[in-house]
Amino acid sequence: MSNAIKELVEGLSQPQKMISPKYFYDEIGSQLFEEITELPEYYLTDAELDIMRTHVDEMATLIGKQASLIEYGSGSSLKTRVLLGHLDELAAYVPVDISADHLYASAQKIRNEFPALAVHPVVADFTRAFALPTPATMPVKNVVYFPGSTLGNFEYAEAMDLMRVMYGEAGDGGALLIGLDLQKDPDIIHRAYNDSKGVTAKFNLNMLRHLNTNYGANFDVDAFEHRAEYDEEMGRVVLELVSQKEQTVVVGDTEFEMADGEAILTEYSHKYTLEGFARMAHDAGLEVEKVWTDPEQLFSVQYCTRA
Ligand code: TRP
Repeated sequence: MSNAIKELVEGLSQPQKMISPKYFYDEIGSQLFEEITELPEYYLTDAELDIMRTHVDEMATLIGKQASLIEYGSGSSLKTRVLLGHLDELAAYVPVDISADHLYASAQKIRNEFPALAVHPVVADFTRAFALPTPATMPVKNVVYFPGSTLGNFEYAEAMDLMRVMYGEAGDGGALLIGLDLQKDPDIIHRAYNDSKGVTAKFNLNMLRHLNTNYGANFDVDAFEHRAEYDEEMGRVVLELVSQKEQTVVVGDTEFEMADGEAILTEYSHKYTLEGFARMAHDAGLEVEKVWTDPEQLFSVQYCTRA
């Protein structure tokens, strides 16, 4: 059995069935994800971009000259370009992503746009330690940039681990610049994950299509529904796929019974309070040195250093 099948079988064998969010991202999934970020209801992207544009000079001052900017995720988003446009004399820009094609394509775009910048893409799973490239100019410090509230897609313990890995990667004198979504009116959050055009639903359901096509599963995709509920107490959106009938699903050689109304958990999206994240950072051995928000306090960008 391949590792992927093993992992899928394991997740579907839990009392609460789950599938790792990494199976969202085939080509169609990546395309749909782009579309999500452009939805009027999806406030996260606009709010984060607004923060970057308004406070980029201050961020550049904290990051300083001749730093190496290590982005977790393939980069090329508008907010990354805003940052790169204001960091002069960067020693290197190091986008890190698990998908080589996507990574190299966006690295090329960045090179075209910033011809003087040393761009060193690294194909790696950023949840584990990886070797950093050695740029021609020795960096004064490493700053890990993790935008898009992606840290919020990890559960507490994993998010803590990841923050430690990031700081380890940045090394002595390094810093983290993290984009995080904030707790707010639950209706606003609900609408962001239940958009009127149904793009988020399509994105969620596409995971099953992807597993059928590329992993030999046989989910009856049309008999599933997208569900995204904000759990205010836990401060997180729970993304699920809910079976609308009883069905037997085969993955690898393993059969799974799904009851009518039974859900598969596909992802969490945690929302933070400023105090809550400060505590979390502290528990991970970090200190929030500076935090920026948009005027409506929808989103935050946090600059953390070792405590
Ligand atoms: N991290 C962002 C968020 O939680 C983007 C994202 C990741 C997302 N997975 C998603 C958005 C699934 C919608 C659905 O919002």
